[in-house]
Amino acid sequence: MLKKSQVKLLNESYNNPKTIPLFFHFPSHTCSDCEERLKNARITENAYATLIDDFFTQNEAKEFRTFSENASFSREIYGSPESQQNGEKPAKAMNSQEKWQFFNSPPPAIKKLYALFGHMAKRDNMEVMTLPWELTNKTIGSPCFATNYLTEMSEESMFLGRHADYDPTKGLAYTIPKHNGEYIEPFENGSKNSPKMLTVMLYSTAENFTPACGMGTVFYKDDEIAYTAECKHMRLCLFKGDLVHNIEATKQALDTYRISYVFKLIFTPKP
Ligand SMILES: [Fe+2]
Repeated sequence: MLKKSQVKLLNESYNNPKTIPLFFHFPSHTCSDCEERLKNARITENAYATLIDDFFTQNEAKEFRTFSENASFSREIYGSPESQQNGEKPAKAMNSQEKWQFFNSPPPAIKKLYALFGHMAKRDNMEVMTLPWELTNKTIGSPCFATNYLTEMSEESMFLGRHADYDPTKGLAYTIPKHNGEYIEPFENGSKNSPKMLTVMLYSTAENFTPACGMGTVFYKDDEIAYTAECKHMRLCLFKGDLVHNIEATKQALDTYRISYVFKLIFTPKP
C-alpha cells in the first residue's frame, strides 16, 4: 500500500467533488536489482525524452502483454474535440475504478516500475510522489495516472491534441510538500533546488505491432515536430511534462493496438 497525503489547493476552481486531492508517495530506497537492470538496459537520451528499453525481463514483458489484453478499458476518449466531430474512432481508457484497481494492486512489471521510481529518487537524493490523483475544474480533468488504448490516430488529432501536462513556471494549482514547508511559488521544472516533474510512460503493444505503425510520442518546438519517440512494447519514455507533446499519428495501418500507461510524478530534493 502506497503512503498518501492530502493536497493543498491554491486554485479554488479545482475545489469540487470530482477532484481527488491526494498525492501518492513511493518509498525512496536503493533497489540493487533496478540498478543492475539499468546497467543492462538500452538508454537513449536527448533534450526531449529518455527512452529505456530492456529494463523489464522477457517474462514480465510476456505477462504484461497478457495482462493488457485481458484488462478492461471501459472509457471512450477522443484525441481532440474535432476528432469526435470528424467521426474518428475513439481511444479507450480505464475508468476511475479500473485505474484505481490497477494503480493500487499492479501487475509485477508495474511493481518493478514503482521500485524504479523509488530507486531514482534515492539515487538523486530526492523524494518521489505522484501529482494529485485527480484535479478537475470546469474545462479540464487532469489525473496523475492515465491509460490510453489506441488502434489508430489521425494526423489532425496529432496536431490538435498537442499539449503540455502542466506549466510550473506559471504556477501550479496546488502546493508541493517539502522538508519544513512547501513549494508555493512558480518554478522552472527541474532547476536547482526545485521539484522535477516527470511524466513516465510505459508502452504495451500487440504482438504484431512494430514502431513502423507509429503512435509513439511526438514532441513539438514552435508547433513543429522536433522529436518522435517510437512506440515499442515495454519501452519506458520519460520526459518533463511541461514539454509540448502528443501521440504520434498512425504511420502504417494495421489491425493492431498500443497502450500507454502514464504516470505523472514529482521528485523533490531532500535537504
Ligand atoms: Fe500528456
